[in-house]
Amino acid sequence: MGNVLVTGGAGYIGSHVGKLLGAAGHHVVTLDNLSKGYAGAVTCGPLVVGDTGDAALVSSLLREHAIDTVMHFAAWTIVPESVAQPLKYYLNNTCHARTLIECAVAAGVRNFVFSSTAAVYGIPDAPRCDAETTPTRPINPYGSSKLMAEQMLRDACAASGMRHVILRYFNVAGCDPDGQIGQSTREATLLIKVAVEAAVGRRPGLAVFGTDYPTKDGTGVRDYIHVVDLAEAHLRAMDYLTGGGASVTLNCGYGHGYSVREVIESVERVTGKPLTVAYEPRRAGDPPELVADATRLKALFGWQPRFDDLDRIVGTSYAWEVKLANGSASDGRAR
Ligand code: UD1
Repeated sequence: MGNVLVTGGAGYIGSHVGKLLGAAGHHVVTLDNLSKGYAGAVTCGPLVVGDTGDAALVSSLLREHAIDTVMHFAAWTIVPESVAQPLKYYLNNTCHARTLIECAVAAGVRNFVFSSTAAVYGIPDAPRCDAETTPTRPINPYGSSKLMAEQMLRDACAASGMRHVILRYFNVAGCDPDGQIGQSTREATLLIKVAVEAAVGRRPGLAVFGTDYPTKDGTGVRDYIHVVDLAEAHLRAMDYLTGGGASVTLNCGYGHGYSVREVIESVERVTGKPLTVAYEPRRAGDPPELVADATRLKALFGWQPRFDDLDRIVGTSYAWEVKLANGSASDGRAR
């Protein structure tokens, strides 16, 4: 069993990974500054409230808990915000990642699993991205901030005994099917989260950003992957590294995409509620279409998705949103 430091473990993806790690019997230590996440999302092990950029804190945690694997989720993730506030993104996603990597190398951490993003591809020549052959040309500071962190991690690993798995996430969606944890991010911007918030009446409706993209119906196309399938990939990554696997960069997605209109139709179908939709111009920094080629993830880790079904993804998101709305779950905000 491993000793795992999960940064950003009170956030959406980190908390789902933390739950699986705990269920598998690993010792989990969560480091989170609670700027986006909330304490109730940490279901196992201690929660330390602090920043990944705090070298003294990080170093002491790594040694105190004899951490062998770092999983780094803590980051800013909102594309349009990164366009408006680039230096905020470079500080947290790049500079703080550098501090964490440096501390991990110094403490002799063996494995580093890094949350990266499809945003590193920018607008690919073909919509299907392969981690080995598709060029990385980010079109927004979010993607650039993550790509720089990727490169630092590769270089630091090459110069030390640490090995890494970089996972480039496509569009993460859905919630824990047990309903214990969910997507509790305050001020969420992700399409499915926003749509289910509208379905429970938490917001009046939603906007479709752009109807003139060169896609199947003019709206943006994304590869939506259920958060539990993504979380499972992290546990496979840790096992792979623990078993001596070489450092690798992999895509995490299902390999097929849905348009914004298709997502809205799914939400209306699953919830039985018509949504109020406004059609607006394109959002800054948005590529038209992004779909993963995840062949290598499956081949290398034996990873098999269990929730590759849009209505099921939406169903788990909606179930969590209903819990938030009726007060049987919390996301730490007053209502
Ligand atoms: C998400 C991730 C990003 C990742 C990318 C990979 C977050 C916050 N963003 O960004 O880190 O790099 O996936 O593909 O985790 N849309 C609307 N109306 C809305 C919200 C979204 O029309 O209210 C549209 C967008 O224009 C886009 C699609 O829905 O076409 C998905 O947007 P969103 O859910 O915000 O995710 P990404 O921007 O793709």
